[in-house]
Amino acid sequence: MRRARWALALGLVACGVTERREPLSARGEALARNPNAVRTNRPCFSCMTCHAVRASDAPDRVLPGAPLQGAARRPSFWNGETLHLREAVERCWVTFLLGDAEDLSGPTGEALSAWLESLSPAGSTEGTAPVRLTWPPTVRNLDPEGDPAAGARVWLRACATCHGEVNTGRGRLACGSALPQEIMAAHADDDIPSTFPAGTPQYYRVLAIEKVRHGSFLGYAGRMPPFATELVSDRDLRDLLVYMGLP
Ligand code: HEC
Ligand code: HEC
Repeated sequence: MRRARWALALGLVACGVTERREPLSARGEALARNPNAVRTNRPCFSCMTCHAVRASDAPDRVLPGAPLQGAARRPSFWNGETLHLREAVERCWVTFLLGDAEDLSGPTGEALSAWLESLSPAGSTEGTAPVRLTWPPTVRNLDPEGDPAAGARVWLRACATCHGEVNTGRGRLACGSALPQEIMAAHADDDIPSTFPAGTPQYYRVLAIEKVRHGSFLGYAGRMPPFATELVSDRDLRDLLVYMGLP
């Protein structure tokens, strides 16, 4: 039912109800850029914290979500895990933005879908191929060798927007932890299953690898997005861990 209304919203836009089209997609863009778009008392990200419209818009950043240009006409999303645009957006809206799925059945969903449609005009194939991003189903510890200078560059490109400066957390988003100390403080005596005893350096290291690869998924709670191996390689991750002081 909800999906049908979303499809109808897409249909209305696609049929060119032109007086509404501009304001609706402009409203969608404003929502996508607004970190307070969701009615939650813990606002933090906007869509554009994690996505660019075109890859070339953010050459200095590694963004966890695919560019959105052409997305409305892709045949599948989330590395083929869903064929439905609504579901692809709902995952982000609910998991990362802590929004209510029902919002996407109303004006918010209509505006966002109108904006995504406007980035995927008929006649242009730009960005319409499925995006290949893969997340390993399970993580293991990585070789502790790494280059801290290379790790610093990965940090700036992939992590700093949310976590600020390493160690101090200066400049972080309100919801982003100051790393790595806060990982250690937060998980000093919890019971996340691990091959390493809680409290050891390897324990925090595997925890950080798990967080980067799965974000909030596979039973480990939270709203951080997962980073696919195409975006942050195991080599990058090794460098990053050394830079973060988790060798
Ligand atoms: C915290 C980061 C984050 C936020 C915020 C976020 N997304 Fe995502 N999004 C992701 C990740 C990670 C994926 C999965 C990788 C991928 O396929 O792009 C994804 C996937 C998607 C996809 C599917 C892309 C594809 O080709 O597979 C769409 C569409 C999308 N997001 C739209 C949105 C919209 C619209 C918003 C705002 C309402 C939003 N996202 C907010 C991280 C985020
Ligand atoms: C879009 C924002 C965002 C980005 C980008 C991001 N994180 Fe996070 N991260 C978070 C949030 C929010 C948390 C707090 C826990 C949660 O809700 O998932 C977090 C938590 C963590 C934790 C666990 C800390 C704890 O106290 O439990 C680790 C480790 C971590 N991030 C590492 C990284 C690394 C390394 C990168 C870069 C590859 C990165 N993060 C990029 C948002 C982000």
